Amino acid sequence: MKFLPLPFIALAVIVGVKASSANIDWSAHQWQAPGPNNSRGPCPGLNTLANHGFLPRSGTNITIPMILDAMDEGFNVQPITILRASAKLGLLTTDNIDNFDLQGLALHGTIEHDASLSRNDFALGDNIHFNETIFTTLNNSNPGVDYYNTTSAGQVLVQRLEEDKIANPNLINTQKEFFVRVGESALYLSVMGNATTGVAPKQFVQIFFREERLPLEEGWKRSDVPIDDDTLSFVTDEISNVTTWEPSGAVVCPWIHLQPEGRVTLVQG
Ligand code: HEM
Ligand SMILES: *[C@@H]1O[C@H](CO)[C@@H](O)[C@H](O)[C@H]1NC(C)=O
Ligand SMILES: *[C@@H]1O[C@H](CO)[C@@H](O)[C@H](O)[C@H]1NC(C)=O
Ligand SMILES: *[C@@H]1O[C@H](CO)[C@@H](O)[C@H](O)[C@H]1NC(C)=O
Ligand SMILES: *[C@@H]1O[C@H](CO)[C@@H](O)[C@H](O)[C@H]1NC(C)=O
Ligand SMILES: *[C@@H]1O[C@H](CO)[C@@H](O)[C@H](O)[C@H]1NC(C)=O
Ligand SMILES: *[C@@H]1O[C@H](CO)[C@@H](O)[C@H](O)[C@H]1NC(C)=O
Ligand SMILES: *[C@@H]1O[C@H](CO)[C@@H](O)[C@H](O)[C@H]1NC(C)=O
Ligand SMILES: [Mg+2]
Repeated sequence: MKFLPLPFIALAVIVGVKASSANIDWSAHQWQAPGPNNSRGPCPGLNTLANHGFLPRSGTNITIPMILDAMDEGFNVQPITILRASAKLGLLTTDNIDNFDLQGLALHGTIEHDASLSRNDFALGDNIHFNETIFTTLNNSNPGVDYYNTTSAGQVLVQRLEEDKIANPNLINTQKEFFVRVGESALYLSVMGNATTGVAPKQFVQIFFREERLPLEEGWKRSDVPIDDDTLSFVTDEISNVTTWEPSGAVVCPWIHLQPEGRVTLVQG
């Protein structure tokens, strides 16, 4: 019998560890609040991964492979189409060639959009940090029970938009923003709750948004079921199905901000 060359064995070991990444050493991934020099942005998912050291705690110089590995390790989120695309769009928010900072993701119009669940609109102030007032709508949804689900998530999307139509005369609400917002709602339900049904304990979701922490002590567990295109599309479809939506405002075509310097390009919808 021949011996395998050493590099091959090393590779096999790395692949083996990745494949069984359910065996996560949580003691090496404890929550730590970000320091004043750590970059955090408008995404509670990526901020949480950085606060637990699945992404660099600095929040800077993040590459696409780092994102894909961190989502897998921390959440059992697989390279879902919408997230692969988001990770690539992240590169448009910086002049760095192959990496970006979490705070830079707040570039309005690349991924960042109005009518967020927990952040203010760009035109109204701070579109980066958690805002308790904005979060009230989601926090208080699905009254009488201790979980959020696809029905309540859809209602919250509609209600945040109605609130914003009053608060922000320059609100941008095209198909692109709606698509992203539905995806993000499916993500908080899937990552904090049951990825198959889209039912998530309120307590877990609230800790995820407020503290950007995995509620491990409270009983949260990383999903046993890989969160992939199949599970996510079921949850997004259920949310979309209960949500009436129409574009509104001055911008009717989907648009995208292509670089930090601020050129905006209209894309035919
Ligand atoms: C498993 C991974 C992820 C989870 C669980 C997640 C979750 C979320 C959630 C729930 C929101 C909505 C926040 C709100 O409306 O207040 C959000 C927003 C955002 N996410 Fe993520 N996300 C993930 C991955 C990513 C990736 C890969 C990128 C791009 C590199 C990204 C960029 C953003 C941005 C820019 C926003 C701000 C959008 C806005 O509300 O205006 N996220 N994310
Ligand atoms: C943050 O950066 C500033 C400026 O470089 C430095 O003076 C300060 O010590 C840093 N703070 C921490 C906690 O690293
Ligand atoms: C790392 O990020 C910092 C801050 O954005 C940036 O100045 C630096 O150029 C980045 N490094 C690389 C190799 O892109
Ligand atoms: C949070 O949002 C509300 C509503 O727009 C605003 O009045 C308040 O100033 C914001 N709070 C912070 C700390 O930015
Ligand atoms: C958030 O919702 C919980 C119920 O899940 C409620 O007890 C709490 O008072 C709410 N917090 C805020 C700040 O509205
Ligand atoms: C979500 O929860 C509410 C309150 O219990 C319930 O009325 C609704 O049917 C649930 N939605 C789904 C899709 O199960
Ligand atoms: C998710 O919900 C399904 C359907 O109710 C159930 O069979 C499954 O055990 C749940 N998963 C977890 C982790 O609770
Ligand atoms: C959503 O609605 C479509 C069209 O009515 C239906 O075919 C589909 O099964 C629904 N999906 C879910 C997950 O409810
Ligand atoms: Mg926003």
